[in-house]
Amino acid sequence: MVHYQRLRSALARRLPDGLTLVSGGRHVARNRDVDYVFRQRSDFLYLTGVEEAGCALLIDPKRRRHTLFLPRIDNHHRVWLGHVPDARQAKTLYGFSRVLYTDQIPAAVKQARAGYRRAYADEAVYRKAKKTLKLQNRPAALRDALDELRACKTPEELEFMRRASEVSGRAHVAVMRATRPGMREYEVQAVFESECLRAGFKHLAYPSIVAAGANAAVLHYHANNAELKDNALLLIDAGAECKGYAADITRTFPVSGRFTRRQRDIYSIVLETQKRCIQKARPGIVSADLHVYSMTIIAEGLKSLGLLRGDTSGLIENGAVRLFYPHGLTHMLGLDVHDTTGGKKRAMPNPTKVPVRFVARLEPGFVITMEPGIYFIAALLQDPGLRRKHKDSVDFAKVEKFLDFGGVRIEDDVVIQADGPPRNLTAVPKEIAAVEAACER
Ligand code: GLY
Ligand code: MN
Repeated sequence: MVHYQRLRSALARRLPDGLTLVSGGRHVARNRDVDYVFRQRSDFLYLTGVEEAGCALLIDPKRRRHTLFLPRIDNHHRVWLGHVPDARQAKTLYGFSRVLYTDQIPAAVKQARAGYRRAYADEAVYRKAKKTLKLQNRPAALRDALDELRACKTPEELEFMRRASEVSGRAHVAVMRATRPGMREYEVQAVFESECLRAGFKHLAYPSIVAAGANAAVLHYHANNAELKDNALLLIDAGAECKGYAADITRTFPVSGRFTRRQRDIYSIVLETQKRCIQKARPGIVSADLHVYSMTIIAEGLKSLGLLRGDTSGLIENGAVRLFYPHGLTHMLGLDVHDTTGGKKRAMPNPTKVPVRFVARLEPGFVITMEPGIYFIAALLQDPGLRRKHKDSVDFAKVEKFLDFGGVRIEDDVVIQADGPPRNLTAVPKEIAAVEAACER
């Protein structure tokens, strides 16, 4: 609880001249009287740790007062949904000196606004308080302050992420052990998700991707219903969250438990790329440069297999490598699986010639993924325009033989350290021998 108090105080120090209002998430109806499973808004979770729906937060920096607002619960709610803490109980439960109900927001704001000229409020709560707030609102400044704060993780946040990674890692190992030819992708998904649930982790960080054979070439594959063939690889990209903090882990392993020669060739390039990129992930390195570095290793590997030819930097700049590796090496990880990139102050132009979404100078306390991949995506590799463009760079005759291959991605979550290589939160086998051993039953 002290942890959340500290984060609220840190936000108040960044926005000292206004009242800050942050809304929690609300239930969203799925149909009639059934709601979608509720997951708290990340900003609200970051500042309060409160997982209940329909709440709000007021920070009054001049008076150093933080107020939590809870929805007023009636008996209908108690009968159908059970006990929800009242204002008095919530004080001790969530560590607030003042807890009110959301219907008291206008009165509380009216009382607090003396001495302020501006507010920092997100739209949802601003609408509720607008009539009484009567302050100039700066929602973009609130967004920016939160993005800036959320980028570097505190020791408590890192502990949540370690636990998310630990449980997700166990689930990945359970998957390797349980997978057999003839199963369906959703059965593998069930192994992963039941392991997380059994550990008390109710929320996944994102929908699980369980992709066998050619399906692995669909980056965000979600159908998860195909049969696992004996000679195929299985790619599983799945992670649970702990207190809202995500794990984002991918492993690719043979359904049979033994890599074929061809699978080993592709897998080894991806593994080598990932390990070398992890070693290089240090403060001061720009994520986009690291991405280009990963493209270089992948290009060299694909050249050694005869799939690409020509000068490596040319293959990177002309887009040939992107045919096989069309996503980023890394993204920030935290309360969102693709987390905040650190606010305006950290924004910088892409120093490379390749398109990449995440461009930031790495700092101690950043948690990022490391997830190179190689895929054989028919939509790209059979596109007549792309084939014409890259006819000198790609051996398309050889590529044809890989169109049933799918892809390989290996993804770990790492914490950037002040000195030395990052701390790897992910402990799931990834060396070929270790993966084969984990697949033994
Ligand atoms: N885990 C999915 C992604 O990073 O896009
Ligand atoms: Mn990822």
